[in-house]
Amino acid sequence: MTPKISARDVSVFYGAKQAIDHVSIDVDQDNVLAFIGPSGCGKSTFLRTLNRMNDTVASARVSGEILLDGEDIYASGMDVVQLRARVGMVFQKPNPFPKSIYENVAYGPRIHGLATARADLDALVEQSLRRAGLWDEVKDRLTDSGTALSGGQQQRLCIARAIAVDPEVILMDEPCSALDPIATAKIEELIHELKGRYAIVIVTHNMQQAARVSQQTAFFHLGQLVEFGRTGDIFTNPREERTRDYITGRYG
Ligand SMILES: Nc1ncnc2c1ncn2[C@@H]1O[C@H](COP(=O)(O)OP(=O)(O)OP(=O)(O)O)[C@@H](O)[C@H]1O
Ligand SMILES: [Mg+2]
Repeated sequence: MTPKISARDVSVFYGAKQAIDHVSIDVDQDNVLAFIGPSGCGKSTFLRTLNRMNDTVASARVSGEILLDGEDIYASGMDVVQLRARVGMVFQKPNPFPKSIYENVAYGPRIHGLATARADLDALVEQSLRRAGLWDEVKDRLTDSGTALSGGQQQRLCIARAIAVDPEVILMDEPCSALDPIATAKIEELIHELKGRYAIVIVTHNMQQAARVSQQTAFFHLGQLVEFGRTGDIFTNPREERTRDYITGRYG
């Protein structure tokens, strides 16, 4: 099967400092892929190369090749706004727009021209909120501000917002680290439901979470991809000593 995303020999520099060192990895369409590794090893940096979020960092320079469905996302003709709709992102800290719940979800489809008639937009907002597992909690308060929701609800709103533009890949950078265990369980359940519909990459510091939600795991250390494989294998029978040390809590 051809991978959804194929990264080859990707390095990232911030000025003279190298944060990612020749990483090659494939992201499958039908799996959840977890990125694990100690703080500062480059997980977020590498994740952000997958939809060119590093473009917003003036000192960042990316080399190597990243193909989305075989197409080079760093090619000069690439429409970055379109790319970020195809490869959506959910951040550590929920970041709803200071607008209504409805507008948070409707904004993307409107600017991308996915729905113009009000009825179509209403239907798309409802479908996205349902897929994000938030509809029942907000259907009677769609005009309330997105920022008035709880942290866990805000994070599901951000997921609904990412889903609304019909992405192909969703990147999540520690999406549960600001949430309590109940809100975390809801996001994990949601990831299970979204799996297969979207390719999903999640960064997490929580080993149990990686084991619960992912089918594949990549362990990063000091900017290198040390080990990549089936999640069950990584956690029960890692090939590399550095992986074993990390998952058993010897450092990190
Ligand atoms: N905007 C930036 N400018 C300069 N250096 C940066 C920038 N962002 C990250 N770095 C550096 O790149 C390296 C990798 O950082 P990154 O944030 O990708 O790590 P991480 O694995 O996501 O860590 P954490 O688990 O703490 O989130 C670190 O040394 C960090 O200091
Ligand atoms: Mg990070």
